[in-house]
Amino acid sequence: MSIKEHPPQSEENDEHNSNNSSVLHVPVLLETALQLLSPKEGESYLDLTAGFGGHASEFLARTKNYSQSVLVDRDDYAIERLKSLSDKGARLLHTDFVSAAKQLIEAGEKFNIVLVDLGVSSPQLDQSDRGFSFTNSGPLDMRMDRRQDVSAQTLVNNASAEDLTRIINRYGEEPIGFARQIATAIVGARPLSTTEELANLIKQTYRGKWKKTHPATRTFQALRIAVNDELRLIEDLLPRLPDLLKPGGRVGIISFHSLEDRLVKRFFKDQFDLGLESELQPLTKKPIAGDIYDVHNPRARSSKFRAAVKK
Ligand SMILES: C[S@@+](CC[C@H](N)C(=O)[O-])C[C@H]1O[C@@H](n2cnc3c(N)ncnc32)[C@H](O)[C@@H]1O
Repeated sequence: MSIKEHPPQSEENDEHNSNNSSVLHVPVLLETALQLLSPKEGESYLDLTAGFGGHASEFLARTKNYSQSVLVDRDDYAIERLKSLSDKGARLLHTDFVSAAKQLIEAGEKFNIVLVDLGVSSPQLDQSDRGFSFTNSGPLDMRMDRRQDVSAQTLVNNASAEDLTRIINRYGEEPIGFARQIATAIVGARPLSTTEELANLIKQTYRGKWKKTHPATRTFQALRIAVNDELRLIEDLLPRLPDLLKPGGRVGIISFHSLEDRLVKRFFKDQFDLGLESELQPLTKKPIAGDIYDVHNPRARSSKFRAAVKK
């Protein structure tokens, strides 16, 4: 397989070219994941972000080992959609991947294949009532796990201007000047309750000074990361991955924006730099890029795949 250099990453929430008309999930980098993680009959599979089971169903169709496989997601809607795989014997865990990893490690469970496909799924983005999207109006929610108390609405209506500036700048990578202006505008317009109100407010703040990417893209990404504590959970998960793998087991991670990929890249590099003492060996020297022309899933164009094998 040829390893492509990756094109510049764009934000995962960039809905500029997305087709929001259907609630479908087309798995990103599926062929790459299958080729590099090479599932074999009888192997066990752990999917830490199973979503709509797009990857899981393809891996499980090859391993045919449902009973020793575990599918994790923190979203109740995803868990509901995974029932067809649990009917065949796969175990479902409705929790975040760090809690799941702790639970599995404590029970001494190890797997031949572990997959982590980070971020939100297309169905989550496309369902306006989930509040992830600035192109469909909905409540300012953005919780992946609807059992948690803090939503985007809580943050937007209660955080200080300083905290909002920091969130929008750090997690959205919005330049500090615009981040400050957006935060000030939010504080001045509170209370806000819909994605549309927030997106319009950001548009007004930009006063037409944007080119391709919708000006709300970065703020929406930032709020989503903050609401779901996404980066801290990734940082907590990565060092646990070797303990979830059998010897010879393979782990693949798909990231969608530079903040995620930076964490994954650093974790793998630190592992590989340990040389003889490292638990993991690289399966990808450079990240493999998603298809920038994937018409079925616009998220693919900013995706990166990294993989390793346990010694
Ligand atoms: C990109 S989608 C995965 C799609 C899946 N690979 C498929 O083919 O259908 C990411 C999924 O991971 C879940 N997720 C994100 N962060 C999570 C976390 N920290 N713990 C558990 N699930 C998480 C989201 O709810 C979402 O359903």
